Amino acid sequence: NIVNTIDMFRKAQQEEYAIPAFNIHNLETFQVVVDTAAELNSPVILASTPGTISYSGGDYLVSIGNAAAKRYEIPIALHLDHFESFEEIKKYIEFGFKSVMIDASHHPFEENVKIVKEVVDYAHEYGVSVEAELGRLGGVEDDLVVDEKDAKFTNPEQAGKFVELTGIDSLAVAIGTAHGLYKGEPKIDFDRLDEIRSMVSIPLVLHGASDIPDTMVKRTIELGICKVNIATDLKIPFSNAVKQYFTENPDANDPRKYMTPGKEAMKKVVEEKILMCGSNGKA
Ligand code: 13P
Ligand code: ZN
Ligand code: NA
Repeated sequence: NIVNTIDMFRKAQQEEYAIPAFNIHNLETFQVVVDTAAELNSPVILASTPGTISYSGGDYLVSIGNAAAKRYEIPIALHLDHFESFEEIKKYIEFGFKSVMIDASHHPFEENVKIVKEVVDYAHEYGVSVEAELGRLGGVEDDLVVDEKDAKFTNPEQAGKFVELTGIDSLAVAIGTAHGLYKGEPKIDFDRLDEIRSMVSIPLVLHGASDIPDTMVKRTIELGICKVNIATDLKIPFSNAVKQYFTENPDANDPRKYMTPGKEAMKKVVEEKILMCGSNGKA
């Protein structure tokens, strides 16, 4: 069955690689991620935003996840990504999700702590691991839109306090990445990450990892990033390949035909990202 992220993170921290977390949206993208992770013998996290859950159905996703876990030997975690509602989190824990992110990063520190702690206390009763964010990423992730002027870097000292006060299992940090594509070159504050690392011993999470050069992501992994979130870099090649298929075959109407080039294009990127994270062969 699908698992929480505790064991996969422990091993990743010890051996200094990261677990890739891929945002999926439907059966096809789910298949590409688990099939490719299994081929490369990589542990993997499949992430669903609130919008994806309402689109695909949390119960369907858990069933697919458990089917994949039965089919393959690799550790597979299904993760709620950027959930803001405790009630929703409770509901999907009941459905079988074993890993959740409570995103209260838009609230002031004290309020963020209070909301997160409540989720942690609840989730841990059910063996569910919890991620939370301190600081705030800019950019667009499914239905989450944060203006650049509202983005805020993680304060290292606060990060230490935040982890202590909440009891979370992993911490999402804001160090210059943004959700989606960058206007110019992404500027990552590696020194800040290093400082956060010195304050925090739990696994650190890099959101917004699409559209960042591999060398930069690898540097963040060396500095303590343990989970790398990737969404946009999968969505673009998938949809481009489907568009191209329809351009070449304007009368196509068989989903088994027109979805396949999308899956193939996405598979290449999933492979690259697993290699970037260094999680291949680590299942
Ligand atoms: P990207 O779309 O930039 O890859 O961000 C993904 C993410 O952080 C999901 O939570
Ligand atoms: Zn994110
Ligand atoms: Na990004």
